[in-house]
Amino acid sequence: MTTDVIQPGPDELRALVDLERGAIDRRVYWDEAVYRLELERIFARCWLFVAHESQVAEPGDFLTTYMGEDGVIVARDGNGAINVFLNSCTHRGNRISLAEVGNRRRFTCNYHGWTFGLDGALVALPQEDVYRQTCPGFDPGDLGLHRARVVSYKGLVFATFDEEAPGLEDYLGDYRWYLDVLLDNDEDGTEFLEGSIKSRMACNWKFPAENFAGDSYHAAWTHNSGAMAMLGMGVGKSNQENSYQINVNGHGWQFGLDMVGNAMVLGEQDIVDYLREREEKVAARLGKLRSRMVGSISSANLFPHMSFLPGQSTFRTWHPKGPKGIELHTWVLVNKSAPESLKSLYMKGVMRTFSPSGTLEMDDGDNWENSTQTNDGVVTRRQKLHYALGLDSGIQHPELKGAVHLRKYNDSNQRAFYRQWLKLMCDERAHASRS
Ligand code: FES
Ligand SMILES: [Fe+2]
Repeated sequence: MTTDVIQPGPDELRALVDLERGAIDRRVYWDEAVYRLELERIFARCWLFVAHESQVAEPGDFLTTYMGEDGVIVARDGNGAINVFLNSCTHRGNRISLAEVGNRRRFTCNYHGWTFGLDGALVALPQEDVYRQTCPGFDPGDLGLHRARVVSYKGLVFATFDEEAPGLEDYLGDYRWYLDVLLDNDEDGTEFLEGSIKSRMACNWKFPAENFAGDSYHAAWTHNSGAMAMLGMGVGKSNQENSYQINVNGHGWQFGLDMVGNAMVLGEQDIVDYLREREEKVAARLGKLRSRMVGSISSANLFPHMSFLPGQSTFRTWHPKGPKGIELHTWVLVNKSAPESLKSLYMKGVMRTFSPSGTLEMDDGDNWENSTQTNDGVVTRRQKLHYALGLDSGIQHPELKGAVHLRKYNDSNQRAFYRQWLKLMCDERAHASRS
């Protein structure tokens, strides 16, 4: 990463995103200065998904992940609290945990042996007496690993480095009503199946995020041949009059009310039967409308970078690695109470569709990488991109929450994504984080 990039000001940023006409400047996908500002004003400020509670179920359980490009450790301590702190030693900055997952009582740095607790506090260091004798005011209490604020919502753990950020409830807002379709359709809640997949793509992080927020339009074209190969039938056009895009605070969800549309793509009749058998129970818990969304043809993105396909049970984050790269983390999310045999079918289905070797993910990755690369051409850069589908599709709905748009073939969620992006990118306040 170069250090001589000039930070774009608010007027320059506003010129990149024309929400009235539905036009986006290609610069948002390749520019180093825009990217660096995203790290500061989006990834260092937003509430970011860091783990599912089931991944750190026991005291001492930990995993490593990223908040923006900052490496962090997520660890459950002896009191049951989940802590998130930088995976970088306060002495010389060395990486504290080289392991990506495990169970520990404490973390010892490989370089000089400073040792930190499960809450990030510095608890021991070699020759501490020398420090006390020669280092005026030395206090190990000041040298803990830099901590983030941490709050969970129904099993999902979120963290932010911004001390001034509004609470997670405000951040999620009415999107919680939709998240509950995924997280609260069963009284026992959800879990991630063990293991995750980490892979790389040479694309800007916003392409997958905005795709999952509401690009149903690509599916019948991009994924048609994949669906033919896997299922013996194409994707087909979805019923547009019975489908919606909703957005809240830049979070998007597009869905039909077919109940098992996406789940069918996994190619496992037992999963379809499971969803149909549960429909009444789910309706009693969440109401008829939301019971129709559980396995439906739908996709979602929680701003900025946590995406999921409810019907296919794939759950992922797109970690930025420069303007033209991401590290993609993928899990399988299931109801805890689902039979074990069904959980393995979900795992198999996700691997077949949305893993690095999954047919549908390969379709998408190709498009996102090519879009990222071509947008950086010297002449190509000057041409705006078209985001105007469904400019007049907003409706009032008696039950659905948030901003509601009729028809999934729509760019309204992408425009909402960039509205939130612009708002945060133009927020010039100094960063407020714990010291
Ligand atoms: S860098 Fe960690 S103990 Fe020195
Ligand atoms: Fe796709």
